[in-house]
Amino acid sequence: CGIVGILGTSSVAPMIVDGLKRLEYRGYDSAGVATLENGHLERRRAEGKLRNLEARLREQPLSGTIGIGHTRWATHGKPTERNAHPHATDKLAVVHNGIIENFRELREELERDGVRFDSETDTEVVAQYVSREMRRTNDPVAAVAASLPRFRGAFALGFVFDGQDDLLIGARRGAPLAIGWGDGEMYLGSDALALAPFTDTITYLEDGDWAILRRGGAEIRDEANEIVERPRQKTTAGAFLVDKGAHKHFMAKEIHEQPEVVGRTLAHYLDMATGRVRLPFETPFDWKDLDRLTISACGTAYIAGLIGKYWFERFARLPVEIDVASEFRYREAPLPRKGLALFISQSGETADTLASLRYAKENGQKILSVVNVPTSSIARESDVVAPTLAGPEIGVASTKAFTCQLTVLACLAVAAGLERGTLSEAEGLRLVTELIAAPGLIAEALKHEHAIEHVARDISKVTDVLYLGRGTSYPMALEGALKLKEISYIHAEAYAAGELKHGPIALIDETMPVIVIAPRDAIYEKTVSNMQEVAARGGRIVLISDEHAAAESGLAGLETVVMPNMGPDFAPIVYAVPVQLLAYYAAVALGKDVDQPRNLAKSVTVE
Ligand code: G6P
Repeated sequence: CGIVGILGTSSVAPMIVDGLKRLEYRGYDSAGVATLENGHLERRRAEGKLRNLEARLREQPLSGTIGIGHTRWATHGKPTERNAHPHATDKLAVVHNGIIENFRELREELERDGVRFDSETDTEVVAQYVSREMRRTNDPVAAVAASLPRFRGAFALGFVFDGQDDLLIGARRGAPLAIGWGDGEMYLGSDALALAPFTDTITYLEDGDWAILRRGGAEIRDEANEIVERPRQKTTAGAFLVDKGAHKHFMAKEIHEQPEVVGRTLAHYLDMATGRVRLPFETPFDWKDLDRLTISACGTAYIAGLIGKYWFERFARLPVEIDVASEFRYREAPLPRKGLALFISQSGETADTLASLRYAKENGQKILSVVNVPTSSIARESDVVAPTLAGPEIGVASTKAFTCQLTVLACLAVAAGLERGTLSEAEGLRLVTELIAAPGLIAEALKHEHAIEHVARDISKVTDVLYLGRGTSYPMALEGALKLKEISYIHAEAYAAGELKHGPIALIDETMPVIVIAPRDAIYEKTVSNMQEVAARGGRIVLISDEHAAAESGLAGLETVVMPNMGPDFAPIVYAVPVQLLAYYAAVALGKDVDQPRNLAKSVTVE
């Protein structure tokens, strides 16, 4: 998941571990480093967290001035030390993100050639394949050049070679990789964040590029093996690398940043002075001409898309179809001639979302993406990018990126409605006024943190939770259940409140909490009557609504989470807060690793 390579002037192993720590948030379950010691490759690897690798390095230190390191999230093979990266032969060590799709075929080819394997991973296939080429050519650069075209799939690779004290090679196809420029030192990283401790001068490799690094600089070649120039950029990643501040976890810090980042994002899309939407880009399509909007994304970004669907349909009368990217990419969905496809992604690197984007492009759709990382693959392959200005999100479970995605989708839907003439000028102004209120309302919602913590402590004692909501609160219910599962490992399900009677009502008893998300909107009364159905069966209800809701419902023994009074249209941007805090405090009460939940990764660059 994380790659760091360094051509240095002093011992690099501690630096590599330092860089890898910056990528911890991506999730991983083993780690390793390889350096050249007196010209020869040596490795240290460990199962589990980086502190285990650090312990290994204390027992058996490495002092080499060139090396690569990796944090791995198990895809092929178990997270054991033997399967940890780097993988090595007598000739080279390699680290790898992503999946080599045709590794079985290559492995058979190599085995027929007498190569013996000692792990179950596709990465070892890369190591052995390039090593075989080296036996043929005795030239590492030529060997990598000959091997790369044989590897299929989406990946990033980093190599060091036995006996080569001034050579590091990196290659990217489908997974991100950047080069860092230092003073007599060169760096390779899967993320500019990893290189922030060493340099702020970064070159992002383009898809298909590979790079030959020596202490004096880098030569970059494209997929056709032509030497190419790629720009050097000053990154601001360093500026964002603040610690957790007063918070115990990045997730808590990020939840609390929401008033600020949602405000920053709004300021980018609205003309605050006139109260009008002003998109910060030209659209290469006309909203009026569109027949359909197709949305695709994964995880929490998909849930943002589900909410966006309600807004685009209601405000812009634009038919929306939405699917998770892992389904959409293979469904062979017919797409309309005048279609716009919208992709939502925090990282901009999610493999399924990127593949869906490419499918939509091949099928003649204009591509709009809502991303948080403007240099990402999804951003670069889109016709137009609508950025979320959430700043780097470190907690694996998405929070501030989600509310910023909602903010951007809301602005886009209002802009589309105005352009298509389905919203009057006055309605547009009213909606923008509601949006401008959102950051302040989020801050209000955060003031109820202690009350929410109290409810969460109770929730942490149960094994199953049901979330209910209608309209845009239905996707919010899905997000509540997803967050709770992700970080507290409590089983949770979400239903559209109206579906309750078609199945889940059978589960209701006095032990299972039912969390009802019910902002005061047009269908509020309907949700209340579903809530009464739960109460009538002795169910335990937690109602998330405004101050008066509990009293008005007339239900005794109702637990409530109070939200500020607000207009009905953009409630999810504010109701995200209690949903996130409930999951957060339930996980904290259970002592879980909130920022790095087991088995999850921040950015899923494999299928
Ligand atoms: C992973 C993360 C989620 C995220 C999803 C989509 O599953 O753990 O928090 O919502 O990927 O990621 P993206 O970067 O495309 O938004």
